[in-house]
Amino acid sequence: MSIEQIYQDMKTKLNNIVPDFELRHKAELAHQINELKQERNAVILGHNYMEPALFNSVPDYTGDSLGLSRRAAETDKDIIVFCGVEFMAETAKILNPGKTVLIPAEKAGCSLAASITAQDVRDLKVRFPGVPVVTYVNTYADVKAECDVCCTSGNAAAVVESFGSDTIIFLPDEYLAGNVANETGKHIIFPTRDPSQNPEQSTTLDYQMIGWHGRCEVHDKFTVGDINNIRQQFPDVLILAHPECSPEVVAASDYAGSTTAMINQVEQTNAPHYLLLTECAMGDNIAAANPDKEMLRLCSVRCPYMNQITLEDTLKTLQLTQYVIKIPEDIRVRAERSVQRMLEIG
Ligand code: 13P
Ligand code: SF4
Repeated sequence: MSIEQIYQDMKTKLNNIVPDFELRHKAELAHQINELKQERNAVILGHNYMEPALFNSVPDYTGDSLGLSRRAAETDKDIIVFCGVEFMAETAKILNPGKTVLIPAEKAGCSLAASITAQDVRDLKVRFPGVPVVTYVNTYADVKAECDVCCTSGNAAAVVESFGSDTIIFLPDEYLAGNVANETGKHIIFPTRDPSQNPEQSTTLDYQMIGWHGRCEVHDKFTVGDINNIRQQFPDVLILAHPECSPEVVAASDYAGSTTAMINQVEQTNAPHYLLLTECAMGDNIAAANPDKEMLRLCSVRCPYMNQITLEDTLKTLQLTQYVIKIPEDIRVRAERSVQRMLEIG
């Protein structure tokens, strides 16, 4: 595609979202990236939270964590450029170790991934011997390596239910754990670091889930008060929340699901107004794909880590072959077991 074609395509989709002078500049960058992508035999994966100009130009595939993990596992290209955060690029490397996996920003972290270490998981396993460990994919490879199975927001309840009625440890997202516990009818506890400070935990095993106090710093910002205010002004609004929002926020919303599930929900329904309780670039991307739908805005809640991924840096990534994701092989092999188990569950 020529620069002009890319520009026209972006203009059609993003006319009311990105200023024209910016679109021209972005179209030039996207053109260079697409040329280099062919030359280097690379595939670009773009998470649903990518900013609109990037999301709508260079990715070969867009999607949520689960969908992009599958794309990463099956690609036969030499290079995977992951336009997302570090734990996602790591998951691509875990699943397809023979490929060079690149991420455009050196340290695009995640507050959930930063909330727990491999040693924390080992300590929990000592305190709760024999209890299986489920970890959200929003964790680093060494944490995944300590666990039995991973999950994403798209399959968390199915993964938990695959253990039948057994007690499980669910890490590290406190809110996702609470939402899954509600969905599956399980009683959850959050043990303190010092067992003597937690009387509930020292009694018999009358709980079925053991959580951890990690939170997504973006989804933590949404409140039930926000929802009540919007419902007062727009009584017919359909509110969609990501399950990284608190259980109270999810209960006050009309729908909860992964980023792709939210996109599908907007596409498949016809509400007069929609409000998304998630990273705000995704609202722009949905608005661009559904110009007939009215997307309400609460405020501009952007993930500071996803926000680091730009077209400029994606170009540099391919030009300089940076930043390369590296995982020690013994950790990768153990982490792969957990991720593959998740993919088998669905
Ligand atoms: P999804 O798996 O739903 O895409 O979510 C990833 C994420 O980081 C949400 O904050
Ligand atoms: Fe992590 Fe939250 Fe950003 Fe998702 S939105 S990458 S969970 S900090």
